[in-house]
Formats: sequence, structure tokens, C-alpha cells
Amino acid sequence: MADNAKLIVEGKTYEFPVLVGSEGEKAIDISNLRSETGYITLDNGYGNTGSCQSSITFIDGDKGILRYRGIPIEELSEKSFFTETAYLLMYGELPSEGKLKSFSERLNKSSLIHEDMLHFFTGYPKGAHPMAILTSVVASLSAFYPVKDTLDPEDEEIIIANLMSQIRTIAAFSYKKSIGEPVVYPSNKLKFVENFLNMMFASPVKDYSLDPDVVKALDMFFLLSADHEQNCSTSTVRMAGSSLANIYSVIGAGICALWGKLHGGANQEVIEMLEHLRDTRTSPTAFVDAIKNNKGKLMGFGHRVYKNFDPRAKIIKGLCHSLLKKPGLNDPTFEIALKLEEIALKDDYFLSRKLYPNVDFYSGLILKAAGFPINMFTVLFAIGRVPGWLAHWREMRHDKHTRISRPRQVYQGPTRRAYVPIQDRK
Ligand code: CMC
Repeated sequence: MADNAKLIVEGKTYEFPVLVGSEGEKAIDISNLRSETGYITLDNGYGNTGSCQSSITFIDGDKGILRYRGIPIEELSEKSFFTETAYLLMYGELPSEGKLKSFSERLNKSSLIHEDMLHFFTGYPKGAHPMAILTSVVASLSAFYPVKDTLDPEDEEIIIANLMSQIRTIAAFSYKKSIGEPVVYPSNKLKFVENFLNMMFASPVKDYSLDPDVVKALDMFFLLSADHEQNCSTSTVRMAGSSLANIYSVIGAGICALWGKLHGGANQEVIEMLEHLRDTRTSPTAFVDAIKNNKGKLMGFGHRVYKNFDPRAKIIKGLCHSLLKKPGLNDPTFEIALKLEEIALKDDYFLSRKLYPNVDFYSGLILKAAGFPINMFTVLFAIGRVPGWLAHWREMRHDKHTRISRPRQVYQGPTRRAYVPIQDRK
């Protein structure tokens, strides 16, 4: 294999080193492109740009492969659970029993938020989107838990536990405030997911009875959401982190990026779409035709990297089949989703563009069955994605190649012109 790639610009040949990743991915290292040739690259949406070297998550989008730290997602979803997988992502190895125990203890120790922060929740208008609350409250954690400029490993561990645990508490408190109920505090007697469900659905007058199938399903949703290499929100975390902004603002930035409907916000959009089809009795075939004709989007379909089945979607679809069979959890919108998938996967429009269901196509059905309101779906995605964001932040901090992220541009605006005084303007 060539060690260098050749580029001919204006008749002159330049050579750039070729880098090969551990799974055989090839990259041309263009770090010196501009200094040597005067050229930059243009890559809208960064579809061909590697922004870093990373050892956290591997995706082969053509084969539908996803691995966290080398372990296939199918195996993790079967044998592991969210907090263990979070540890794997952040620290690189599966924890020993002792390490897992102390990690869980740390999570418990950090689960409360400063009591004064409760005032924030009363300031938001009724009906405020919980993602709006989450972004701002997370960013303001730095006011209550100031971050030192230089972090030792112990500081890093405290931050990691705080963020994983407190985001879950903030999410549940946002929901409680939005429905006008008092908050339910976390309990050290409960495990991570059980604790969250209890904070969400118990009340001072009513206990919440935990259904192990729902606990398992939510745990798996968090695990499947935990990382996805350089996606939009993770790249945002890396970009904001590269300026050495404090970690709470950095994660706040990631949550903002996740909110968009082309990214984490898609799970809310999918259920709204399915419920619209159910309520208007629109035929799935007519809906797919309308999408093709109007160049609209079938939400929960397509992916920048997967040009084959998203392995997470396969797992979540299987989970829907088992969870929605339970008495009281049957959901007719699942049938609509299955029909849409069947139609799309026989249609040349979707086949030729390699558009398959992504993780968001079926995940909302699980979250709805677990009792969550639709506007909490992206918040749940954020809780799941925190370990991935933290893993990337940690990796970036320890990578000697990290520099402030600062892309270039190709300027297409007016060339130099004079300032026109206001009275002379047309
Ligand atoms: N429905 C219909 N057509 C689509 C869809 C879709 N869901 N997605 C892409 N296309 C078409 C698109 O119009 C384009 O057609 P043409 O070549 O004729 O212009 C072609 O497929 C290529 O699409 P693209 O928009 O250039 O692809 P992208 O890599 O820039 O965007 C995407 C990826 C995920 C943003 C996009 O597929 C999409 O908007 N999907 C719906 C939103 C969604 O489900 N997002 C969740 C993504 S997975 C979880 C996550 O990352 O958070």
C-alpha cells in the first residue's frame, strides 16, 4: 500500500502521508496542505473529513457494524448494561467488579443537584420544552460546581460522575416541574435506570412500581445511544472542548446540537409522524409517495454513515416486538412503522439512496411504552449519550495532537469596497 498520496496542483506534485486505522480505514494526512500548496479542502458537512484519531467507537456503515472499544453492539446489548458500557466507553476497558462498584457509588454520591438550582425550574414558562431546560440547567452547573483549569485524574472522575448522574436528575426534575408536581429526589437504594424512572413517575402520594421489562428496555435504549463516534453533537463537544471551555458548557453545547430534528430530535419527530398517520388514517403508501414527490423526509430513515441497516435499529425493533406484546403496552403505531419500513425497503427511491431505518425509527415506541411523554424523548437520548461525549472529551484532553478546532472557509462575499455614508445609501 502506498505510504504517500500524490496531489498535482498547478503542474507541481506534492506528497502527503497516508494513515491507516486499526480497521483498515485509509486517510490522507493533509495537515501541511495549506502551508505547502496554498490550497485548503472544501467538504460541506465534513462527509470526507476526519477531525481526529479516536479509539472509542468503530462504525463500518457499509456493513452495518458498530463496536464500542472493539466490542460489537449486539454483544453489549445482550450481555452488558448501561453503566458498565458507559465505563467501558469512558475508561477503555470493561470494569472489574470492584471498579464497577466504586463507579456506581460515585454515581450515587453525585446524584443530587445543589438545592438552590431548584429555583431555576420554577422560572420556565408552562409547557417549556424539557430540552430547553436541560441545556440551560446543565450549562449552569459550572456556577455551582466550578471547574479548575488543570484537572487531575480524580477531578476528571468527579466531573464524569457528576455529569452522568446529575443530567438524569435534572431531566426528571424538568419533567416534574412541567407537570406541576413536586420533584422526587434520587435514592441510593436504586440502580441508575430504576432511580431515573422513580424520579420521573413516583410522587409523594404514590409509589411507582418498577416493571423489570421497562427497566431493561430503557437501559438498553441508553446503552444503544451511548456513543456514535464523530456525530454532530459529539463533534460539537469536541469543538467546544477544544477551546478549553468548562466541561459543563461543553456538554451543554452537545445537548443543543443533539436537539435538532436531523439528529437526536428525530425520535420525537418519528412518533409525531406515526401518530399523525394514525389520527388522519393516511395510508402508509400514500405517505411514502408524498415524501418522494415533495422531496420530504421519512423521519427515522437515512444516515450519513450507514448505507446498510443501522445495527441499533435492528436491536430496538426486536425490543419493540417483545415489549409491545405485554398487556397494556400494545401500540397501533408500531404496525404503521412496520408497514412504512416494508414499503420503503421495496421502493427504488429508498433503495437507490441506501436509506434504511436508523436508531430513531423504532426507539420512540419503546420510550412511549415506558410512559414517557414525547417531548422527553430527546432528553432521554441526551442522558444516554453523555458517556460518549465524556469519553471523547477525555480522549481529546489526553491527545497530544489536539489543537483548537478552527476550520477554514472559501470566502465568496464582496471584494474590497468603500464604506458609504448613510445619507448616500439607496
Ligand atoms: N427520507 C427521504 N429521503 C431522504 C431521507 C429520508 N429520511 N434521508 C435522506 N434522503 C434523501 C435526500 O433527500 C437525498 O436525496 P437526493 O440525492 O435526491 O438529493 C439523499 O437521500 C441523500 O441524503 P442527504 O440528506 O444528502 O444525506 P445526509 O447524509 O446529509 O443526511 C440524515 C443524513 C440522517 C440527516 C438524513 O438521512 C435525514 O434527514 N434523515 C431523517 C432524519 C433522521 O432520521 N435523523 C436521525 C439520524 S440517526 C440518529 C442520530 O444521528 O441522531
